[in-house]
Amino acid sequence: MTVAEALQEATRLLGGAAERPRLEAEILLADHLGCERSMLLLRDREEIEDAGSFWQKIQRRRDHEPLEYITGRAGFYGQEFLVAPGALIPRPETEILVEEAAAMIRRREAKRIVEIGVGSGAVSVTLARLFPELEIVATDISPEALAVAAKNLRRFGLEDRIELREGSLLDPVPEAVELIVSNPPYVPEGTPLEPNVADYEPHRALFAPGDGTELLRRIVLLGKERQVPVVCEMGYDQREGMESFFRDAGIEAYRFYRDLAGLDRGFVVSFGDEVKSKK
Ligand SMILES: C[S@@+](CC[C@H](N)C(=O)[O-])C[C@H]1O[C@@H](n2cnc3c(N)ncnc32)[C@H](O)[C@@H]1O
Repeated sequence: MTVAEALQEATRLLGGAAERPRLEAEILLADHLGCERSMLLLRDREEIEDAGSFWQKIQRRRDHEPLEYITGRAGFYGQEFLVAPGALIPRPETEILVEEAAAMIRRREAKRIVEIGVGSGAVSVTLARLFPELEIVATDISPEALAVAAKNLRRFGLEDRIELREGSLLDPVPEAVELIVSNPPYVPEGTPLEPNVADYEPHRALFAPGDGTELLRRIVLLGKERQVPVVCEMGYDQREGMESFFRDAGIEAYRFYRDLAGLDRGFVVSFGDEVKSKK
């Protein structure tokens, strides 16, 4: 079978499972052939080698496995990260968390920060690349996620500046840090999710008890205890819950940020010297 024929057949097979079947067929075939997607057109008459393993990948996608787990790679902030089951696939909206954390690092001239729930490492790696002087301690409760993060640290040559520690929240970080950044699990337990997420991505990276804000609240309280700012991603519908928590906890210096769709997507809380306006 030639490249052109395989693409046509793969596109047809992916019709029910993928939103953009042609694009995904091209990505999977380029991955199989070890070439750029843009090269497929030039190779369209070439016979495919080891076609069996290509069709296996198409079948995995038909079974709703995320494309990124099949190729083992995901794009984030213009870079390619390694991903594997056990670590959440980094999401585009989390790039805004990076921007918010970067603004805070710049303002505070922070040199040492912590990320809670490092996952694949996308957030910490991106921040370390933006700030060449920055040192990061990054925690996670999942050894599988930490193994993926370790690979990404090596990939970007950042093992000296990002230290991974296994444990919950800040338990493994007794020392002082200047900022807490986190994209913790915040989906309320029991929320029905798409099969590509629910059946493949790690549940402890996604779900939190009750209304989903429990970890967000605990992280804010850790910021309060240590008197350091907190930048967190949250669910689009969690603003009200967080606002009432801030009120009850006597926290006034916070603001919410939105994603590109205009939905509430996270918050920044300042403790200590800065007072931010409530938006
Ligand atoms: C939503 S994922 C975020 C991963 C990555 N930072 C990103 O933005 O793509 C949440 C991560 O938090 C980790 N996690 C869950 N509970 C935790 C806890 N109590 N302490 C530290 N990490 C936790 C999960 O294992 C998962 O890797």
